[in-house]
Amino acid sequence: MIDYVNKFSLAGKSAIVTGGAGLIGREIVKALAQARSRVVVADIEEEKAKHLVEELVRVGLDAQYAYFDITDMEHLQGHITGLTRRLGYIDIWVNCAYPRTSDWGKRVEEVSLESWRKNVDMHLNSYAFASKYVAEEMKARGGTIINFGSIYGVLGGDFTVYEGTEMTLPMAYAAIKGGIINLSRYLASYFGGYNIRVNSICPGGVFDNQTPVFVQNYSKKIPLKRMAQPEEIAAVVLFLASDAASYITGATIMVDGGWSAV
Ligand SMILES: NC(=O)c1ccc[n+]([C@@H]2O[C@H](COP(=O)([O-])OP(=O)(O)OC[C@H]3O[C@@H](n4cnc5c(N)ncnc54)[C@H](O)[C@@H]3O)[C@@H](O)[C@H]2O)c1
Repeated sequence: MIDYVNKFSLAGKSAIVTGGAGLIGREIVKALAQARSRVVVADIEEEKAKHLVEELVRVGLDAQYAYFDITDMEHLQGHITGLTRRLGYIDIWVNCAYPRTSDWGKRVEEVSLESWRKNVDMHLNSYAFASKYVAEEMKARGGTIINFGSIYGVLGGDFTVYEGTEMTLPMAYAAIKGGIINLSRYLASYFGGYNIRVNSICPGGVFDNQTPVFVQNYSKKIPLKRMAQPEEIAAVVLFLASDAASYITGATIMVDGGWSAV
């Protein structure tokens, strides 16, 4: 009989999570480490990342930190090769970093071309080239790449959820996430023959102590009537990273409480 539970084990695998110290990233790191992979928290925020690593090592899990700036395009390939050498091999790569400019979050009327270009470069171009370089490393024995999209890479926004708040949905986010999702399909197709799986996860809004009016507006819209918790996203990464998802590639997995179903 097939050992189905064992298909979810990541024992003996090496995983790297860019943005691994963030809201969603740190839960992904915990999930992958609990499934027994060796996990590298690849983040620019050294202090937060090291704190997380200490927490995991203290309970006997295999985690380490690597300073990693996904926007450093000049050195990106070198850093990825360096990480591959350090671990021996990269089996799982998760792009969960969220690089953005300091003026991120402005309304459409206030967005400058310069800011748009910078954000596309920092987020879409960095995910694209990180994925490309990682896939090239993975050609030797296969692997899996998981890119973070968003519901807003698949759908237009519903701006009523921002009523009564200072928040908005940045226009560059739609282009960046849409680009990441279709690029993941392209890479899945191109590298499929090497047993490299490339998928996108599209979360809906994750609860992060946003203003109560926003949480209320947002929750009303969702069939499950609440925002996501980070661990509900991390559990799906764990599945996609594991052999339980061995026939899933080029997929766009919505993890949105039903937002996209209505
Ligand atoms: N939070 C949500 O509601 C939500 C919803 C849909 C999609 N997403 C996507 O999920 C991903 C993670 O989002 P989050 O909410 O955890 O973000 P976050 O801001 O909490 O964490 C992002 C992490 O990325 C790191 N980072 C920033 N710039 C970096 C760089 N240049 N190189 C390496 N690391 C860098 C930060 O230090 C931080 O630890 C993003 O791609 C985001 O677009 C988030």
